[in-house]
Amino acid sequence: MIAARMGMNMGIKCMKDDLCTPYQLGNFNLSHRIVLAPMTRCRAIDEMPNEALEKYYNQRSTSGGLLITEGTLISQTAGGFAHCPGIYTEQQVEAWKKIVDSVRNKGAIFFSQLWHVGRVSNQGFNGVEIHGAHGYLIDQFLKDAINDRTDEYGGPLENRIRFLMQVVQAVVEAIGAEKVAVRISPAIDHFDALDSNPLALGLAVVNGLNKLQSDLGSKLTYLHVTQPRFTAQGVVDKPAEEAEADAQLLRKLRDAYEGSFVSSGGYTKDLGMEAVAQGDADLVAFGRLFISNPDLVHRLKIDAPLRISMIGLHFILMILFWGILIILF
Ligand SMILES: Cc1cc2nc3c(=O)[nH]c(=O)nc-3n(C[C@H](O)[C@H](O)[C@H](O)COP(=O)(O)O)c2cc1C
Repeated sequence: MIAARMGMNMGIKCMKDDLCTPYQLGNFNLSHRIVLAPMTRCRAIDEMPNEALEKYYNQRSTSGGLLITEGTLISQTAGGFAHCPGIYTEQQVEAWKKIVDSVRNKGAIFFSQLWHVGRVSNQGFNGVEIHGAHGYLIDQFLKDAINDRTDEYGGPLENRIRFLMQVVQAVVEAIGAEKVAVRISPAIDHFDALDSNPLALGLAVVNGLNKLQSDLGSKLTYLHVTQPRFTAQGVVDKPAEEAEADAQLLRKLRDAYEGSFVSSGGYTKDLGMEAVAQGDADLVAFGRLFISNPDLVHRLKIDAPLRISMIGLHFILMILFWGILIILF
């Protein structure tokens, strides 16, 4: 299990119904189901997309592979970390175009992850993923531990999901449902964004999206849900009972959602293969393993060993460091 968590190869080869099989994602023909998860890299000095980003995305592009950008700021006040790329000035849009061209020239499908609704056209991306996860603005409306509003955006579930639904509706109206995706993390407590009933919250969002799709007569590109085992510190190896409860939660959301389902959070090759084979996800997004293995898709296809994610390693070293200090003093 530890080896699987560290991203080591457990010896399962790509075969039928697994990560390496094609998938029809709305209008996009994916040649495999391995997705680059959105990851903030803090390399966009002064919020400008630059050559470092171009290299990062280009290295991870494969023909028919889906890439999601890091969280991308749609206004000057949308950010919280230094050096995240923006997409709200003409210069930023022009700079993105260069990166998008380079990714799409490799035949990859490229979605931009937006933190708020904003400029959603003319950048050349194949679509956008609305970031409704991980304790950021939209998630702050969704979760009952932090949403203390008393108006029509607070209180019962139908009120708490209202802002997300309005955002989705507005983006859909601007660019069409088939180019819009949504990410949520009902069971993740990142930045204290807790909910007393993650399943009910997840289902409320899923039902809201299903209704919207039915009203529109067309589907969103996908729903992306973060696996509960992912935390800001790494991946928690939960007791079997809790891990099973997490898996059940995702399964219920996946079964209820009428469309393509992407899952990410602590997936190794084995866990990803299992998720696709069991129908728990159509696509699996990899984060840290894609950072340490730019050629992750190729490595998974040929069953090559994977480099361990340094972010996971940092975490382990930090634990060891503090552990030794505590023992010594
Ligand atoms: C360095 C880093 C930056 C991240 N930035 C984002 C982000 O901008 N948007 C987002 O939705 N998730 C973000 N995430 C979460 C990842 O998309 C992914 O869900 C998470 O890393 C779990 O997948 P993994 O276990 O394969 O790494 C980030 C994760 C990491 C490690």
